[in-house]
Amino acid sequence: MTVVTANKLLGDPVDRVDGPLKVTGAAPYPSDVTYPGLVHAVLVQSTIAAGTIRSIDAADAEAAPGVLAVITHENAPALAEGPMTPLLGPAPPSPLKDNRILHHGQHVAIVVAETLEQATAAARLVRIDYEETAPVLGIDNPEAAVLRNPWGLETQRGDAAAALASAEVVYDETFAIAAGTNNPLGLFATVARWEGDRLIVHESTQWPTMARQTLATVFNVPENDVQVLVPYLGGGFGAGLRTWPHAILTALAARLVDRPVKLVLTRPQMFTSVGHRAETTQRLRLGATRAGRLVAIDHVGTSTLGAEAANMEFISIETGAAYACPNVATHDRQVRLNIPSPGWMRGPGSEGNFAIESALDELSYTLGIDPLELRLRNYAEVHPQSGLPWSSKALRECYRVGAERFGWTRRTPEIGSMREGNWLVGYGMAGVTFGGAQLPCQVRVSIRRDGSAHVRSAATDIGTGTYTVATQLAAELLGLDIGQVRVEIGDSDLAPAPPSGGSSLATSLGGAIRDAAGNLLRAFLNVLAEDHRSPLQGRRRDDVTAADGRIHLVDDPSVGETYSDILARHELDELAADGEINPQADGAGMAPSGPFAARFAEVRIDAELGLLRVARIVSAVDAGRILNEKLARSQIIGATVMGIGMTMLEETIFDPGSGRIANATFGDYLIPVNADVPDLDVVFVGEPDRFSPIGSKGLGEVGIVGVSAAIANAVYHATGRRIRSLPITIDQLL
Ligand code: MOS
Repeated sequence: MTVVTANKLLGDPVDRVDGPLKVTGAAPYPSDVTYPGLVHAVLVQSTIAAGTIRSIDAADAEAAPGVLAVITHENAPALAEGPMTPLLGPAPPSPLKDNRILHHGQHVAIVVAETLEQATAAARLVRIDYEETAPVLGIDNPEAAVLRNPWGLETQRGDAAAALASAEVVYDETFAIAAGTNNPLGLFATVARWEGDRLIVHESTQWPTMARQTLATVFNVPENDVQVLVPYLGGGFGAGLRTWPHAILTALAARLVDRPVKLVLTRPQMFTSVGHRAETTQRLRLGATRAGRLVAIDHVGTSTLGAEAANMEFISIETGAAYACPNVATHDRQVRLNIPSPGWMRGPGSEGNFAIESALDELSYTLGIDPLELRLRNYAEVHPQSGLPWSSKALRECYRVGAERFGWTRRTPEIGSMREGNWLVGYGMAGVTFGGAQLPCQVRVSIRRDGSAHVRSAATDIGTGTYTVATQLAAELLGLDIGQVRVEIGDSDLAPAPPSGGSSLATSLGGAIRDAAGNLLRAFLNVLAEDHRSPLQGRRRDDVTAADGRIHLVDDPSVGETYSDILARHELDELAADGEINPQADGAGMAPSGPFAARFAEVRIDAELGLLRVARIVSAVDAGRILNEKLARSQIIGATVMGIGMTMLEETIFDPGSGRIANATFGDYLIPVNADVPDLDVVFVGEPDRFSPIGSKGLGEVGIVGVSAAIANAVYHATGRRIRSLPITIDQLL
């Protein structure tokens, strides 16, 4: 159990403990759940983006075979609005409030029938007469309402305006990134069942604790009467952070028909129902000396927002922490449009990184300084806003190790100088400073008489490895084999947990497990306090440690006894302890660090066809202690693939006239396939973080950040084309 405190970076690369269940199809995902008497729901969605419903004719649908209910705003009971959500702000508006249409694809009715086919057929029979008004669309639309600094997260340091005015070199450009859509493989599903006033929901969510609170608030029932279950989830990428209107409608339908109801979103409905990465534009101004020192940064980020939705999208927030620049101003704006509500999509903030890391690359050419060297000249040795030491920062090491593995020194600086036959070769790099989070989390850990340990928390595993790292940590801390630990998560009845979001869960849950394990050893010692038969009688927590299923003295491992012997002698079936973390940055004397990374990309562009191929990407990542090297590597590889998608392929296209999403299928919305994904090299550097109880800093999102800038910078190096809008498409390169 000394591993957690030791300076060991890489945790054992054990296989996923849930792997066998998944590959044999035995892991129950929300869409797999069924009940006797279960019926099916299908959504009817608005075909206009703005206006009102004049009338609904549901008679034919109601008369169709198997139909149990057609619920619209005309017959739906009033629902309360959902609660304020930590991190995310107000919940999405509750559905079927009134006859107003705020976006194309808004849910206007839910049809419930005995079979899915009957519900699908009947949904087509619902006739809606709309009064259409002109939708407000387009991020530059002058008629759109604009929210300025909606979250109070602006950075003001020094005097950016004055420093820009007097800078030796000034940079001023704009960037644009298309909207993108979270496309977890698992279609989001809700199965809802009422037992009297108690609601049980199997839900595709990344946050059971908040889903329970949301449903309890909306249906005005006590939180203890709502149970949200999600033992397995087929991905989330941020789409599952909210409890969206379709889930509320399914619970409402179950109440009205008094049967268990299942709703599975279709792939096109995933584009309109569970958020998306907002479209963004950015203006970035830099002031620098000729020697390459940044003297001013002014960064304005604009993102799109639904007409009445809230979304805490912080485009420019990382800019203030990334470099040692004395004068920094960052501002965020949100533009209200008639579009489905955006939400978090893996790595919110990656947009801002694209701008600043592209801009530094441009500056490196202006000044004739190597791009990597330019970043080192502006390295933030301490947190540039607070002046406090970082709780850990190995970005310099990321640069050094990444550059070495990539072979950065082979780069010849002149544009187009690395041609190979018809291929223009380019090298590009980007630095990454990303936010980290530890959030309040609770867990209960117990040891049973058979020597097995149980870890229980309302946390979730969205496919990232929570089961596995929680198992590893508990085994390590309690001195057990991995096979003796059982982790139960994905149930809101268990101890409250934060979301599997914001790259926060492994660290938060891990910290709570560490606390609980310590408390559990104390509980065992308490049991032994008066036990003259125990060699551990009267010992204190600091005197003992655990290994091989037994507690023993730190100084003399031969003095101790097994958990099983203690429990048997005291006729106890199990002993349990609770643990929690409540991270407090104030007064810690350090700036809690998120992960850092350096990314290096090689691209090849066919000089005649404009065909862009990524040849390889090297990612050097400081995420503090790596809990499981195999899972961590897989996280970074997966996120890098997503970064390639963001950079070269993904674009959610809103029809500018109708507001309809024009490419809401896997046939039309392009994501990377194997042929798009080159050799991806991942290396972890750094050391355990000092602010994190288990030394880790989270790495669910950092893997996507910096990919876009590294590729775009490589494209410039190869071709001299500076691309400041994503995705980079072939027409921009011809
Ligand atoms: Mo992540 S975008 O917080 O799932």
